[in-house]
Amino acid sequence: MRHEGEIPQDIERVLLDEPTIQERVEELAARISADYAGSQDMVLVGVLKGAFIFLADLARRLTVPHSVDFIAVSSYNRGAVSNGAVRLIMDTRHSIAGRDVLVVEDILDTGWTLDYLLRTLRARNPSSLRACVLISKPDRCQVQVPIDYLGFEIPDEWVVGYGLDYADRFRTLPYIGVLRRTVYE
Ligand code: IMP
Ligand code: MG
Repeated sequence: MRHEGEIPQDIERVLLDEPTIQERVEELAARISADYAGSQDMVLVGVLKGAFIFLADLARRLTVPHSVDFIAVSSYNRGAVSNGAVRLIMDTRHSIAGRDVLVVEDILDTGWTLDYLLRTLRARNPSSLRACVLISKPDRCQVQVPIDYLGFEIPDEWVVGYGLDYADRFRTLPYIGVLRRTVYE
């Protein structure tokens, strides 16, 4: 059993606790499993690093055969403000042409990262292309990106835990918490 005493000082409050996240991941996995039931070649493409824990939990609950691959894009400069440009840092190991691709992303902020990724992957002629995103911050949206599976909508605050980071910290907290503004302002 984990105990509440482990909540670090830098966390203002817990936004989504572990049971809440796990329950939602279970629901998403059930929907995805139903939708991909007939797929012959499904591949989950996790966006590193933020999606690695979400992907691990989601993938283990899928009842359809699938493989797992990863892609990495440039992240914000050490902090909470987007630098705008998105850059591919690491590509998938295997080709996605002709396959049923499900992009698994941690969080949708402005939308630019996922917009770039979906455009890049679509150009490679997958058989199908969908996106599964754990969290969206609708107030921050700058570009409309079609999300097929969404876990939670949250207010405009910087959150960490369950894969999400600030300056590469806090990723392995089991819950999603709001970071104190004093940490990044
Ligand atoms: P977007 O391109 O503005 O949608 O930003 C998406 C990326 O920014 C995500 O993949 C995250 O890596 C990062 N990000 C945005 N908001 C947060 C947050 O609240 N916590 C941690 N990472 C975030
Ligand atoms: Mg990140």
